[in-house]
Amino acid sequence: MSSITHQELTHVIKGVHDELRKSYQLIGDFDHVWNCHLADVNIRKAYASAMIKLATEVWNDKESRIHWSYKTCIDYFLNDGIKHSLLRELKIQRKWSPSFGEDIEYLCHLSEEKNNYKNFDRKLQLLDVGSCYNPFSKFPIFECLAIDITPATKDVVQCDFLKLKVLHENDDACNHADLRILYESIDIVVFSLVLEYLPAREQRFKFCLKAWDVLRKNGLLIIITPDSKSLQHNAPMMKSWKKCLEHIGFFRFKYEKLTHLHCMAFRKTNRILDSSFCLQSLSELMFIPQDFKKYELSKTYTERAEHENLNVIQQFSVLPSDYSFENQG
Ligand SMILES: C[S@@+](CC[C@H](N)C(=O)[O-])C[C@H]1O[C@@H](n2cnc3c(N)ncnc32)[C@H](O)[C@@H]1O
Repeated sequence: MSSITHQELTHVIKGVHDELRKSYQLIGDFDHVWNCHLADVNIRKAYASAMIKLATEVWNDKESRIHWSYKTCIDYFLNDGIKHSLLRELKIQRKWSPSFGEDIEYLCHLSEEKNNYKNFDRKLQLLDVGSCYNPFSKFPIFECLAIDITPATKDVVQCDFLKLKVLHENDDACNHADLRILYESIDIVVFSLVLEYLPAREQRFKFCLKAWDVLRKNGLLIIITPDSKSLQHNAPMMKSWKKCLEHIGFFRFKYEKLTHLHCMAFRKTNRILDSSFCLQSLSELMFIPQDFKKYELSKTYTERAEHENLNVIQQFSVLPSDYSFENQG
């Protein structure tokens, strides 16, 4: 494929992300911006066909994120990764309260006790959120549920994860056409290149909370996010995400920086979040560098009706004061 086509595809993807961020920054009402985006079927379809082409025909390190995720699941579920992760967490707990667990055998015993994946013989249930083209379906070890607001292939279910309902045991599951997922029923949740699609930190945070809800105890959340800069460049962001995920109730199992990606996997542990935590400030931790880009009321200003212009100006005037990526250090 010629590099001009590559550029065109990237342009479509970046254009959609940029337009969403711009609208969110200028209008400030996430639901309104998101609903307009959902209504814009043509833009989303153009995005989906550009994305599948980029991922399957253009990128040099084709599917490195998919193979990283697959390998991590094998290490975790089949090669004792889960046991090591439980032991590490128990050791850390013991550091804070030394009376916790007398010796290493006891810790091993505890980790075995807590491991609900011992001797399981079934496919691993994987929920791929923002899947686009169901790339995990080629691995027989997984039973995939691939969802996307704009599926690029027929085996992907159209569903907005932000609106997906999580069913609890006593909930009435009948009479609902929408997709619903049972609380604590999934082994693996994958967010591959999806968190940065969302223009608001609160929604990224909501994604992570919901992943915790649908994962079984000790299930795995895999997050892949793009970054072609050096490991150190966005280290504050990675630290911030880790802190947020730990507060939700995740324990980091693995982190790796590939040339163009941060790849991370978190084990679901006990929910730590309680009413004493300020959810708003926790969601602030889920920032990305693009959140700090400043947009201006531009050409589109003149294309709006007068009452819309006034509305935008009013909302813009009450946006929170200045942020810059550097101050978040
Ligand atoms: C950059 S693509 C990533 C595709 C695929 N996961 C990959 O790694 O190649 C982001 C995808 O997330 C989807 N998406 C964004 N927000 C979503 C939401 N709230 N619920 C479901 N899918 C969403 C988009 O439609 C898009 O297909």
